Amino acid sequence: MERQLISRIAHSAHPVAAPLSDETVRRLIDRAVGAGTGRVLDLGCGEAPWLLRALAAHPQLRAVGVDDDAEALGLAQHGAESLGVSRRLGLHHQDAREFSLPEPFDVVLCVGATHAFGGLLPTLAAIRRHLAPGGVAVVGDGFWERQPSLEALAGLGGAAAGEFTDLASTVQRAVVNGWTPVHGHVSSLSEWDDYEWSWTGSLAEWALDNPAHPDSAEAATIAAEHRAGWLGGYRGTLGFVTLLLRRAA
Ligand SMILES: C[S@@+](CC[C@H](N)C(=O)[O-])C[C@H]1O[C@@H](n2cnc3c(N)ncnc32)[C@H](O)[C@@H]1O
Repeated sequence: MERQLISRIAHSAHPVAAPLSDETVRRLIDRAVGAGTGRVLDLGCGEAPWLLRALAAHPQLRAVGVDDDAEALGLAQHGAESLGVSRRLGLHHQDAREFSLPEPFDVVLCVGATHAFGGLLPTLAAIRRHLAPGGVAVVGDGFWERQPSLEALAGLGGAAAGEFTDLASTVQRAVVNGWTPVHGHVSSLSEWDDYEWSWTGSLAEWALDNPAHPDSAEAATIAAEHRAGWLGGYRGTLGFVTLLLRRAA
């Protein structure tokens, strides 16, 4: 089953494709965009839930989203038209690592898509190339709530313990690279549970609802394996932090 299709189905009933509640997303957007008169870029925007929420709540804001999943961008465009914000949204179907526009952005987001750049620091370097002086970076990435057990690493599909560090070290890595945290949110266990139930449940339901589809059995297996890897492995070990960062002028 194609990875992007799995992700689209699994995330279909959740506010964003990361363990954050609707209310948390709203608060982080409001904090990042301030007066709401600037330009926002989302690298790895998916169906652009962050941008659609930001544009709907801030009528003077303009936004650009970049993703290499054409179908997700199609859904983003459809969502923008339904909300009446499509004239203020530009969508680019391309590798986010290669994206460039001459005019910098006041806010640059990359939440749950840091793997596209190879981790937190390369993501921050990419964000910096697009950020206007005084602008705000919004980056969401994993960290270890506790030292991962072998079961936790196996539950994450054979992740390496070195893939993440603890929360303090994660934040410090941004700080030593010249960023100042101006706000942040650590996803609660309840946000994680909601995200994982939604991820596994949406995929399992899709399999139940489409028994004749050639991908049905595989979708059911992926949902079951993911649920087992989460409940029996990384639940309470993998954390997620969303940081709002600025740089000195
Ligand atoms: C977990 S989703 C996060 C989507 C969105 N940021 C959100 O919070 O809902 C990760 C997204 O990154 C995109 N992606 C991964 N690698 C990419 C790349 N090299 N260039 C552009 N998009 C990429 C995927 O297609 C997917 O839409």
